[in-house]
Amino acid sequence: MALHLFSLSLFLLYSLFSLTTIANCSTSLHYHACHQHESRVLLQFKQSFMISEYASYDPLSHPKTTSWIPTTDCCSWHGIQCDELTGHVIVVDLRSIQLYGSLDANSSLFSLVHLQHLDLSDNDFNHSQIPSRIGEFSQLRYLNLAQYGENTFFGEVPPQLSHLRNLLFLDLRSYHEYIPPNPINKLQLKISSIRSLIQNATGLETLYLNFVTISSSIPDMLTNLTSLQKLALFRCGLYGEFPIEKFFKLKMLNVLGLSGNKLSLLPGISSSNETLPPIQELGLRSCNLHGEIPSWIMNLTNLAYLDLDYNNLQGQIPHSFFKLLNLEILSLNSNSFQGQIELDMFLKLKRLTWLDLSANKLTLLNEKVLIPI
Ligand SMILES: *[C@@H]1O[C@H](CO)[C@@H](O)[C@H](O)[C@H]1NC(C)=O
Ligand SMILES: *[C@@H]1O[C@H](CO)[C@@H](O)[C@H](O)[C@H]1NC(C)=O
Ligand SMILES: *[C@@H]1O[C@H](CO)[C@@H](O)[C@H](O)[C@H]1NC(C)=O
Ligand SMILES: *[C@@H]1O[C@H](CO)[C@@H](O)[C@H](O)[C@H]1NC(C)=O
Ligand SMILES: *[C@@H]1O[C@H](CO)[C@@H](O)[C@H](O)[C@H]1NC(C)=O
Ligand SMILES: *[C@@H]1O[C@H](CO)[C@@H](O)[C@H](O)[C@H]1NC(C)=O
Ligand SMILES: *[C@@H]1O[C@H](CO)[C@@H](O)[C@H](O)[C@H]1NC(C)=O
Repeated sequence: MALHLFSLSLFLLYSLFSLTTIANCSTSLHYHACHQHESRVLLQFKQSFMISEYASYDPLSHPKTTSWIPTTDCCSWHGIQCDELTGHVIVVDLRSIQLYGSLDANSSLFSLVHLQHLDLSDNDFNHSQIPSRIGEFSQLRYLNLAQYGENTFFGEVPPQLSHLRNLLFLDLRSYHEYIPPNPINKLQLKISSIRSLIQNATGLETLYLNFVTISSSIPDMLTNLTSLQKLALFRCGLYGEFPIEKFFKLKMLNVLGLSGNKLSLLPGISSSNETLPPIQELGLRSCNLHGEIPSWIMNLTNLAYLDLDYNNLQGQIPHSFFKLLNLEILSLNSNSFQGQIELDMFLKLKRLTWLDLSANKLTLLNEKVLIPI
């Protein structure tokens, strides 16, 4: 009996083992090493750039391409990932790897037609234009061309960008980390290109266009992007009234950044029982805003970050601010707020780590002592 049990467990062990072997065999059957031409393409791309320690701003940047050795499988190279079934390169992540040189219109990179994820951010492309062939990456879901400092792409963003109908993430920010005293926008995006992009890339979730000149009224067609979660349009040359009610139809929106545009008025919105989007970050710094803080801001109960610096907002700091229990950063500096505020009220905001009320006409009331600030 004991022997019987022993052989039974042996049998079970064996069959488990053979099952996993079969499973491993079947996955390895589908596993491909890097396609030779894609390996060549990547090596050509590597050779078309110099490595310069000044090309990337990130202090942790390092030249990943040193691991790109011709005799090895390119799917194992730093920054490269291949599709497990087809072996085609689908991810090229070259963020902050100290590349210096131009991105040519005929760069070999554009033959990687299976790419789903392309990150070239924080390198120095020597003021290249973004090649129109970027529109040939029809599978692309993630595109990051953000530049951290002065090293930006230059010129008009090609309208072919709108051919990327699978795009979920698009980042074309300039000055992403370091904003110099007098930043200059070096990229332009035509409103017609934005329209086409919205028509095609209907699934967009993240759109970062800081310091890209758009020069138009706020394009409310952005609200057609119903999956939009993060929208940052810092200093895009936008102007006019902000159609907040339309934007509040975006039920997933959690980041909204419009700082540095000429919005002038923050319209109120008619009260409704509809739930507002779960906005956590709201940036409206230097927007020429005047009038009082509209009451809808106090209904954004998820708000963690609110920047209203450098506007001309007036009136008292509303008491209802203290309903925003998730606030971590509250910056109201350089406005025309008036009246007394009680420091004790701010103690209710347990998560607050940054509070700036400076350069207003406020008086701080602290245990019956008045402190002008
Ligand atoms: C099968 O692959 C898994 C994970 O990939 C590994 O943990 C396991 O040891 C492998 N089994 C055999 C028999 O090779
Ligand atoms: C960068 O651009 C300048 C001016 O167009 C050019 O003279 C220089 O050769 C370029 N450098 C590289 C590495 O491409
Ligand atoms: C295309 O590539 C060749 C070398 O491969 C180069 O000499 C030529 O200048 C490039 N043309 C453009 C428009 O970038
Ligand atoms: C949408 O993308 C396709 C290619 O994917 C392109 O042919 C078409 O012109 C694009 N539409 C617009 C409005 O840009
Ligand atoms: C946005 O949606 C409206 C209504 O569905 C439609 O008329 C308009 O053409 C759309 N705009 C774009 C740019 O897709
Ligand atoms: C804000 O919330 C109050 C209730 O707390 C509600 O009466 C009011 O309609 C809301 N306003 C908006 C614009 O949703
Ligand atoms: C919201 O208000 C409308 C009338 O203004 C009403 O018909 C609807 O049932 C209300 N919805 C909820 C969820 O209370």
